[in-house]
Amino acid sequence: MDTQHTTMRAVRGHRRGGPERLTYDLAPRPTPAADEVLVAVRSAAITRGELDWDATWTDRFDGSGSLRLPIVPAKEVSGQVVEVGSAVRDLSVGDEVFGLIPFTRDGAAAEFTAVPADVLAVKPPSLDHDGAAALALPGLTAWQGLVRHAGLQPGDTVLVHGAAGGVGSTAVQIAVALGATVVATARAKDAEFVRTLGAERVIDYAAQRFESAVAGVAVVFDTVGGDTQARSWQVLRDGGTLVSIVSPPGPGPADGTRGVFFVVEPDRTGLVALSKLVEEGRLVPYVDRIVPLQDTSLAYSTLEREHHQGKIVVRVS
Ligand SMILES: NC(=O)c1ccc[n+]([C@@H]2O[C@H](COP(=O)([O-])OP(=O)(O)OC[C@H]3O[C@@H](n4cnc5c(N)ncnc54)[C@H](OP(=O)(O)O)[C@@H]3O)[C@@H](O)[C@H]2O)c1
Repeated sequence: MDTQHTTMRAVRGHRRGGPERLTYDLAPRPTPAADEVLVAVRSAAITRGELDWDATWTDRFDGSGSLRLPIVPAKEVSGQVVEVGSAVRDLSVGDEVFGLIPFTRDGAAAEFTAVPADVLAVKPPSLDHDGAAALALPGLTAWQGLVRHAGLQPGDTVLVHGAAGGVGSTAVQIAVALGATVVATARAKDAEFVRTLGAERVIDYAAQRFESAVAGVAVVFDTVGGDTQARSWQVLRDGGTLVSIVSPPGPGPADGTRGVFFVVEPDRTGLVALSKLVEEGRLVPYVDRIVPLQDTSLAYSTLEREHHQGKIVVRVS
């Protein structure tokens, strides 16, 4: 670490592209603006597809803005506040915090990151930094999808696609905590894992078409997209909701069902709700593996190519 406080170790992308574009650099240490805090990153987490998103490389979600090169990836952070902006009243130096960094900003694959204070919450005391980093994005995505976008009610049946993945493993647990019955799709070797998350039934997506095994569900939570998403209309009950985090659902049958696509938003209130579930023992973030900061590029490749259960975490310090 730089004792003059001007530089830091960071993983950066200098040209838009995939994991091969990321380099391990000495970079300028950020200075927090008035409404920001500087976080000494302990752990960051990464998400499949992140390096393809326009928001990762530009200052707009639809890619129409300016390129922001070089960028720092990894929007999921847990660490310690080491400096506070002049307008920040609710966080102090020394606080251990976690959260989702807005997608059009630099991320947490670095020793330090400057983050708007209002998107961070105090880390759940029972989680270490690896677990808290792994929780932020999947937790908020599942929470916002099930509660805000699908309006899930106790007693509803939910079908979660991709239930062994980063978001899916969290969505199963949150749906169960909200009083729903969960049916899930995963590969056979993940079935036991998904059952331990609380799913009542696990359908092996490689062996069986889920639409022949389940019907009349209130909510489909789609983390897979494509053909899986298209076939999901068939299992919804009248008035049911297909909520996708991958792509906007095409037109469904005109039978009172509806389709929703959304992008997760940074949200302190949601983090506090997740933290409560964690402390009540009803939500556990799953970490597939932990890699050092200098291996971040390899970790992104692994996420795309290799089987995993839960999240890949980058341990920074
Ligand atoms: N819109 C948003 O706000 C938002 C937020 C977070 C993530 N995302 C996106 O959501 C997607 C999932 O993210 P993630 O982090 O959860 O990814 P992930 O950890 O890779 O999980 C995806 C899971 O889907 C499984 N899967 C693949 N094909 C399947 C199929 N046909 N049926 C059922 N399951 C299948 C995979 O299992 P195998 O290992 O067997 O292939 C894997 O367990 C990514 O595209 C990501 O970019 C969007």
